[in-house]
Amino acid sequence: MPDTEEEIRQYNGLTKTEASLPREAYLDARLHEKDLERVWYRNWIYVGRADELEGPKSFRVFDLGTQQVLILRDEEGELQAFHNTCRHRGSLLVEETSGCLRGSMIVCPYHRWAYDLKGELQRVSSRSPQADFNKSDYSLYPVGIQDWNGFVFIHLAPEEASPLDESFGESSRLGNWPLSDLQLVHTDQTILECNWKIFWENFNECLHCPNIHPELSRLVPLYKQSFMEVHDDPDWEEHQGSKNKLFKSGLTEGAVTWSADGSTCAEPFPDLSQEEIENGHNYCETLPSAFIVGHVDYVRVVRVLPLAPERTEIQSQWLFSPEATKKEGFDPYPTIEFGKKVIEQDGRASELNQKGLRSISHQAGVLLPEEYAVHAFHNWLKSHFD
Ligand code: FES
Ligand SMILES: [Fe+2]
Repeated sequence: MPDTEEEIRQYNGLTKTEASLPREAYLDARLHEKDLERVWYRNWIYVGRADELEGPKSFRVFDLGTQQVLILRDEEGELQAFHNTCRHRGSLLVEETSGCLRGSMIVCPYHRWAYDLKGELQRVSSRSPQADFNKSDYSLYPVGIQDWNGFVFIHLAPEEASPLDESFGESSRLGNWPLSDLQLVHTDQTILECNWKIFWENFNECLHCPNIHPELSRLVPLYKQSFMEVHDDPDWEEHQGSKNKLFKSGLTEGAVTWSADGSTCAEPFPDLSQEEIENGHNYCETLPSAFIVGHVDYVRVVRVLPLAPERTEIQSQWLFSPEATKKEGFDPYPTIEFGKKVIEQDGRASELNQKGLRSISHQAGVLLPEEYAVHAFHNWLKSHFD
């Protein structure tokens, strides 16, 4: 029956039950290390906005799991990234977390080997190195680095990295937003007592929305139904022509953006399509480290970093057009507060989930139809362990 096939193809929900991950996946230190090695050290990871590193010689040290990465701008202003480790006997190279290099070399604090800002070894400590010692064999260990529309990503295994663009999967690339030009207005950081996968699982379903996000569910009528998209509704075909907002994507009547009252605090971006405007939120995801949301008047990027099996850092950043920030009376803080509240609600739910997982009676959970994206996340995860 073509109609049925069509319906099955277009309905997002899971049609049979699927198990969630075993509880050890969220608690066990050894499995956490495996996540780091297989997932975090082998994917593009969002670090921050390009303008957070201003001008030649500025640097920052970025912690990713047990690894430290030195990110800097060379004398031409190009971004460079290296493992923060000296090629001599492996000392830490840079001890400060950020700043501006004083000279034109990175000098190891142990025996003072010196590297230029492209990572090439220029000076060693011995006056008479052996005849077979070749400086060009001891450049700093490279880390992949890329500026994607003002968002800086690193990759610890650049030789085996897929193109960064592929890490966005099927999500929107927010091509109609002036991403490169945006200005960072606010950064917020919080530490959650949960495994990093719990945060992503919560991100990937809206079953929790009516209960955990009452304000957001008033703003996004579909969320009130526990749906993320129109096709999460098993009766989506029947509801296709409905004028009822509960079955349509987009924001409630009169609202145009994510804020407490649904109103903007800056001019809408000029090149958005009608559909993008009507959606009110457009998601761009890059697992495992970030999602970016394009709203009509601002962009929000949320970065996820694993700190320990039961600790995760969440950083949210709000970006606006430079023109908006210069306008008299520009006040983004009510909008920022709204986003912070949603993230706090998700954080609390994630911590609750983590605590419950400690029960020795719990082996693994089960997924309902609306949790199809959690299942897809689990499959993505498992693909790293094949
Ligand atoms: S370990 Fe860096 S110079 Fe010796
Ligand atoms: Fe949520």
